[in-house]
Amino acid sequence: MSANLSPIDTAKSIAARYAVQFVEDGMRVGLGTGSTSAWMVKYLGERVKEEGLKVVGVPTSRRTAELAQRAGLALTTLDDAKWLDLTIDGTDEYDAELTLIKGGGGALLQEKIVASASDRMIVIADQSKSVAQLGAFPLPIEVVPFGLQTTRATVEAMLDGMDVLGWEAALRMVDDAPFVTDEGNHIIDLHLKRIGDPRHLALALNHIPGVVENGLFIDICDMVISGHGDGRIEVTDLTDGTLNEVLVDLGEDANIFADI
Ligand code: A5P
Repeated sequence: MSANLSPIDTAKSIAARYAVQFVEDGMRVGLGTGSTSAWMVKYLGERVKEEGLKVVGVPTSRRTAELAQRAGLALTTLDDAKWLDLTIDGTDEYDAELTLIKGGGGALLQEKIVASASDRMIVIADQSKSVAQLGAFPLPIEVVPFGLQTTRATVEAMLDGMDVLGWEAALRMVDDAPFVTDEGNHIIDLHLKRIGDPRHLALALNHIPGVVENGLFIDICDMVISGHGDGRIEVTDLTDGTLNEVLVDLGEDANIFADI
């Protein structure tokens, strides 16, 4: 399976392939954004074609919507679906409590709305996303264009009183212009190095006028499926309120579906 893949792509693809086995006939599924989620969309499309699985997807970005259409997945809007059975998405970091930093791909707002409207969120990742403490990856926040510099200054002033190790707030740029999200907003990346109290920080950020949402996902993720480059998968499950870790050794050529 992974003969032509780099270790990182092997890790992402086996996590994604494992995760799509949690999708059942008739489900409404939130489809995440990013390179790991792209594998998930591909494998879910294969299940739909091969097994005749009836699912409807709600994409978390235009990019994912295009991928999903090409993969043959039926799509709808969150408003039409109203509530979802499951969302599968990637992450930029996750800690032992399954708190996440998301938004490296700029889709954090739709991702958080979709995941929060789901019975269950499964995160797929490669092992490099696992951290003892969040914050090495810059925390993205989505901000409205109006008063952008004022909002940024307010955020930086607020960070002064927070349990963090860095205070830089950088406007995300693409080709000399501010990055624009699917909702027409901008992203400010907070270089915090270490986030001591994610819950406090998330609340403080969302209290600032001009900040639409932050990339901390707290009490949203139920399970992380983390792939290794050598074919092993770690499953960390919080669904029943306790944290269970299972190590599945898929091996290079193992049948991934035999372990579920
Ligand atoms: C998109 O905005 C992000 O939240 C992605 O889910 C996250 O950046 C993970 O992306 P990769 O799977 O590409 O690492």
